[in-house]
Amino acid sequence: MTDSTADHLVLVGLMGSGKSSVGRRVADALGRPFVDTDLVIERRVGRSIREIFADEGEESFRDMESAVLSEVLSASTASVIATGGGVVGRERNRDLLSAHRVVWLRATIDTLSTRLVSGRSRRPLLDGDVRRRLIDLDDQRRDHYHAVASVTVDVDDRSLDDVVREVLTVTESR
Ligand code: S3P
Repeated sequence: MTDSTADHLVLVGLMGSGKSSVGRRVADALGRPFVDTDLVIERRVGRSIREIFADEGEESFRDMESAVLSEVLSASTASVIATGGGVVGRERNRDLLSAHRVVWLRATIDTLSTRLVSGRSRRPLLDGDVRRRLIDLDDQRRDHYHAVASVTVDVDDRSLDDVVREVLTVTESR
């Protein structure tokens, strides 16, 4: 972390791992602001992520995501930040993340597909065979999550309360 940036707590992991729900609860418990980079992008652009992907393509979304990540990480108020699952795709993002306390919410493909398969999601990258897509994304990203994270929390078969408690405990001393 550079001297000018706050000690943020950042959550990474695949879609459906619980970054937003866990992040909101952890932020409440710590009395810190909660920031969800996907929501920042949607509010700023005035369109959903699905619409951004459809209108401008994934690269354009990734540019916005990188810009927002850099901005929220350089904010001076220590916050809890939930990122989009694909944020680790770019090396520059990984470098920025590595300077903060990063928690990887790790889940098996079974857990994620059970959570994501029902209901049409706002997530364009899961169109089609959800399980297949998740397996591919997990292959591409697993090493990156591992590299940027200071802590890994397994979320399978656990309640939200339980995961929140572990995130608070494991990040306390770091
Ligand atoms: C994406 C994850 C989504 C969102 C976008 C792309 C990804 O965020 O950023 O649909 O590439 O994994 P969540 O991980 O919050 O669902």
